[in-house]
Amino acid sequence: MEPSIAVHRTPNERAPKSPPRARELPVVGSSLDLLRDPLRFLERVSREHGDAVEFNLPGQRIFLFNHPDAIEQVLVTERDRLVKDKLTRELSVMLGNGLLVSEGAFWRKQRRLAQPGFHRERVAAYGDVMVRYAERAVADWTRGETRDVHKDMMRLTLDIVAKTLFGVEIASVARKIERSLEVLMDRFAGIGSLIPIGLPLPSNRRARRAIAELDEVVYGIIRERRQGGDQGDLISMLIAATSDEDGSMTDTQLRDEAMTLLLAGHETTALTLGYALHLLARHPKAAGALAAEIDEVLGDRPATAADMPRLRYAEGVVRESMRLYPPAWALGRETLEPCTIGGYHVPKGTQLWVAQWVVHRDARWFAEPEAFRPERWENDFAKSLPRHAYFPFGGGPRICIGNAFAMMEAVLILVTIARRFRFQPTTHAPIALAPSVTLRPKNGIPLVCR
Ligand code: HEM
Repeated sequence: MEPSIAVHRTPNERAPKSPPRARELPVVGSSLDLLRDPLRFLERVSREHGDAVEFNLPGQRIFLFNHPDAIEQVLVTERDRLVKDKLTRELSVMLGNGLLVSEGAFWRKQRRLAQPGFHRERVAAYGDVMVRYAERAVADWTRGETRDVHKDMMRLTLDIVAKTLFGVEIASVARKIERSLEVLMDRFAGIGSLIPIGLPLPSNRRARRAIAELDEVVYGIIRERRQGGDQGDLISMLIAATSDEDGSMTDTQLRDEAMTLLLAGHETTALTLGYALHLLARHPKAAGALAAEIDEVLGDRPATAADMPRLRYAEGVVRESMRLYPPAWALGRETLEPCTIGGYHVPKGTQLWVAQWVVHRDARWFAEPEAFRPERWENDFAKSLPRHAYFPFGGGPRICIGNAFAMMEAVLILVTIARRFRFQPTTHAPIALAPSVTLRPKNGIPLVCR
């Protein structure tokens, strides 16, 4: 029925409307559901309400958007009205004002300075390190043993990022970094991410100590590189980078960028590989197809960066793993001013979430979305998708700077491992997930080597 009181609007003024609201409790909103099981929560509210839904955390009004067109608005068209969301901004305790959290003109300048380090040729030059380290890692694996491949991949990708980024050999410094990183990852996992870092709690004290330890390592390397010149690693390149406006980066800026690359650059790739091995263990046919491709492309020799264009099935495995288990399972922004997204009015200060976990499993874009089918990526399937129906690396100007690095690393490590081993699952129960900043496996990924 039409309302009986006429509301006067100019002809092109749209009625302000908000997305449908999730059922939730007063005061705490959806925090309990979200903390208990964020993935199920996002799935449920999306199933119940469709492409846009509103829910609340104390002090935060959140709109979740699931349609690729709305995601395009968040990541591209409306980006100048948005900044990173509250939860992402919390990471600045660790990352300072590094690329992942910086904004505006400062972010643009830093991104321009870092970009050459991720150019195709520079990344290709890291291929050798990636393969050599992967070969060394699998050298002492034995047939019949059960390994936690999540742990193995975390260590391997940390070693690779330490070498390519800092020019640091494993064993000494990387082990120290590893311990400090573990403390920090735990501190920012689950409920921990909602506890203010300023509170005098033992977990906060441990986190601050870990940050101080990482700082010591990072500043030490910066000092060394300033004296020693370009070693072909990323940090050397960042030190050499100068901007037209105001010369080279200060040590603090370098520290923030280095810390960001270290943290953003190893766990995500490790997760991709862990889930890929998990999925291959459960899909022997796919493991067989991968082995056939490796035989054909590589024969008996190790892979190189130049093989990438021919390792198509391996690339499909990596893409499909990131579809089903996106390491970055959601990302967020906050509105600086009111805007319209997905046809809804979004007030200033609203948190906007888009969730790879939900969109990557949407049957409108992916037939049989729960099925692991690396071959779906053949014949340029990606090009047939709406933009941002698949966005493991985000999109728009803030797309992951390391995406080519990560794709190459994941494919080269995957084929290096698959040349020597196939795996069997230790159980057929669904894998338990523990989403924090990234989508981590709750109990590791134990697999039997064959
Ligand atoms: C499979 C592996 C990876 C995944 C899934 C991933 C995912 C992402 C996503 C989704 C974003 C965008 C966040 C947002 O828009 O809020 C991002 C940004 C970023 N990633 Fe990655 N990443 C991966 C590997 C890497 C690697 C290897 C590096 C560096 C060596 C890296 C460095 C960064 C940086 C610096 C940013 C911030 C870029 C900016 O805002 O300018 N990532 N990543």
